[in-house]
Amino acid sequence: MKVWTVANQKGGVGKTTTTVSLAGLLAGRGDRVLVVDLDPHGSLTVYFGLDPDTVEPSVYTLFQRAASGTRTPLASCLRRTRSERIALLPASSALVSLDRQLGAQTGMGLVLGQALMQWRAAFDHVLIDCPPTLGILMVNALAACDRLIVPVQTEFLALKGLERLLHTLAMIRRSRPVRADMLIVPTMYDRRTRASQQCLQTLHEQHGDALWPRAIPADNKVREAAQQGRPVTELFPYARASLAYAHLLHYLETGVDSDRHPYGEALPTDLSAAAPLLPDVEPLALDQARPATRPPERLAVNEDSDPRPWPTLGSIPITAAPHPLEITA
Ligand SMILES: Nc1ncnc2c1ncn2[C@@H]1O[C@H](COP(=O)(O)OP(=O)(O)OP(=O)(O)O)[C@@H](O)[C@H]1O
Ligand SMILES: [Mg+2]
Repeated sequence: MKVWTVANQKGGVGKTTTTVSLAGLLAGRGDRVLVVDLDPHGSLTVYFGLDPDTVEPSVYTLFQRAASGTRTPLASCLRRTRSERIALLPASSALVSLDRQLGAQTGMGLVLGQALMQWRAAFDHVLIDCPPTLGILMVNALAACDRLIVPVQTEFLALKGLERLLHTLAMIRRSRPVRADMLIVPTMYDRRTRASQQCLQTLHEQHGDALWPRAIPADNKVREAAQQGRPVTELFPYARASLAYAHLLHYLETGVDSDRHPYGEALPTDLSAAAPLLPDVEPLALDQARPATRPPERLAVNEDSDPRPWPTLGSIPITAAPHPLEITA
């Protein structure tokens, strides 16, 4: 089971969108995916049709359970979603007071990681969506993951958010090991604007080693998919943002950037949006990409040729999620 955390202390940079889009791609090729919402605002929870004000149990329950020894079964915290093969560990609004209530209690930094260990045979991938604030939830997410994905909106103010996150990481690393590799992912890139291009150039100059050599373009299909509560990669697999997210997944899994069409097909004539390789900016050095750790896998969406069965999780509650999944328990 791979655990990827999506974090940035700046709000509105594409954390939830990145979580949902990667989850959609992974599930579309048949992986069993768990998405975890650690944001008290519950955007990811809302995305999948649940209300953070009323959802129960939730991530909050995990912490209550760890702090007070209540015996809520872990699996009861997981929900089906309307997307095939994506399960959700929802956020409840109560998370907003977690730091005040339990922040000082020892052992609270590993609660999520320990829960995920229980589910390691049940999922191929876990994606954790973080709140834009530093606190016990972010510490849990960093401690639990083996990969840190940092979406950075390609505008000047977003660079400040990145600096804050790097500072936080350094601080956390002083007190506990964080084994995650970091990848910075430029988002909402608009090649027509000078601000987008300059921001990408700065990212390249200051963080070239950790920078994904492409960018997720600004694409209205992202908002359209969000309105329908579905991953853009599932609803519009050939939208510019979806193609870019497919390239990103390939890079995350192989460490190699490829000009091949991410779904393994012939290149369409206009892939420019998925590969905004800095027209007016110095091109990124693709050959400096990390070496492949394992052979590239062909990416495919909605491929059902090898659907793996749903995990045996005991009783996954069938809740208010609009289109319940068939889960083989
Ligand atoms: N590539 C994109 N193109 C167009 N709109 C996008 C793109 N990515 C995200 N958005 C939109 O930008 C807004 C913020 O995105 P998102 O919610 O993913 O950010 P976030 O970092 O999770 O925010 P928060 O910190 O508030 O949780 C949303 O309305 C989303 O639909
Ligand atoms: Mg969010």
